[in-house]
Amino acid sequence: MIEGILFDMDGVLIDSEPIILRAAHAFFARRGITTREEDFQPFVGAGDRRYLEGVGERYGLTLDFDRDRTELYELYAQAVQEAVSFDGVHDFFFDAKRAGFKVGLATGSERHKALINLAAIGLKEEDFDTVVTGEQVVRNKPYPDIYQLTALSMGLSPEVCLVVEDSIHGVVSAKRACCAVLSLPNSFSSSALAEAGSDVVLDTLSDFGRFSTIEAFNARLKQLIVGNTVVYGANRIDAAPTAITPQLFDEAVAAALESWRNAYAPYSQFKVGAALVSAKSGKVYSGCNVENSSYGATVCAERNAVLHSIAEEGVVGIDLLVVVSDDDPPAPPCALCLQVLSEFCRPETEVHLVDIAYAERRDGVHEVYRFGELLPHPFIFPAMRQL
Ligand code: THU
Repeated sequence: MIEGILFDMDGVLIDSEPIILRAAHAFFARRGITTREEDFQPFVGAGDRRYLEGVGERYGLTLDFDRDRTELYELYAQAVQEAVSFDGVHDFFFDAKRAGFKVGLATGSERHKALINLAAIGLKEEDFDTVVTGEQVVRNKPYPDIYQLTALSMGLSPEVCLVVEDSIHGVVSAKRACCAVLSLPNSFSSSALAEAGSDVVLDTLSDFGRFSTIEAFNARLKQLIVGNTVVYGANRIDAAPTAITPQLFDEAVAAALESWRNAYAPYSQFKVGAALVSAKSGKVYSGCNVENSSYGATVCAERNAVLHSIAEEGVVGIDLLVVVSDDDPPAPPCALCLQVLSEFCRPETEVHLVDIAYAERRDGVHEVYRFGELLPHPFIFPAMRQL
């Protein structure tokens, strides 16, 4: 449930990218350099220091932003009068305030420029619960620091905040901070913003629609996000579920069997192999049980497969699980493994329990369950429950 909204400024509240671009062109023109718009693209959203110095480096010019900022912002202040806000910004912003959301400004730009911008679009610093600008963090976007700081200074955990962004650096920063992200294709393409991890991309904030309560806002957001993603346990994965073809199923069984052979089970002699199919990539990851002299330090095959997949890909959704054991009936995942799996499985995820004969393609036992049958009531931490 979202309780706070954190706004990026440039390219979200104000169409300032053309303004800073014009100011920067003029800055370089004074030094005899004709810059092109593409020169600046890699630095959009990374703060004005990188924006200016990055392009300077490209042209072999060593700039000192601490000295040159005054000149840049003079040029900026001349141009800003022509700036406009984007469609829907004012309605969305004031709907959010009236509904009772906490609202924060989190901009990598420096305070001086933020205040020029706010004035240009008719907003005041006091309209925000918190204003955090670039100077207040050592590491700018794409690091998560600025969104973490803004959320926490409003007394909210980042998980209950929605960030409104327009840049790739900004989306990455917000996702690393564990915020939900709504992005607007004002500076980058919708597909690039989705690829960077946005939970939802809208053409303009008008497309969100008007709202008057926090509950109505969350219902609308959920509707938009569910359209884009598949929910796996505590995770929304921005990919369609992997189709489990007979070949992929066979590959998973073979991988689980191979891991079963590697199981380290000198104490129980009970070997287990497991394999899962990742929704992100369609790849198969496997694991075996690894026992320990200190019995409680033992890791089961299923958790080992989960750890393996996350070490390779980051968070995954699980579209298939196969567990191989020499037991009759073949062993299901233990309760601890089910709890860990519940973070990444859907209730519909198929869990195939097979014995060695089946895995070796001889006659054998093969049972199929839905994950939700094995663990109908997983515990999901409140902040991670789906919006
Ligand atoms: N084991 C698994 O690997 N997965 C399960 O879900 C059940 C138990 C392993 C742990 C231990 O090495 C052995 O089986 C006996 O408990």
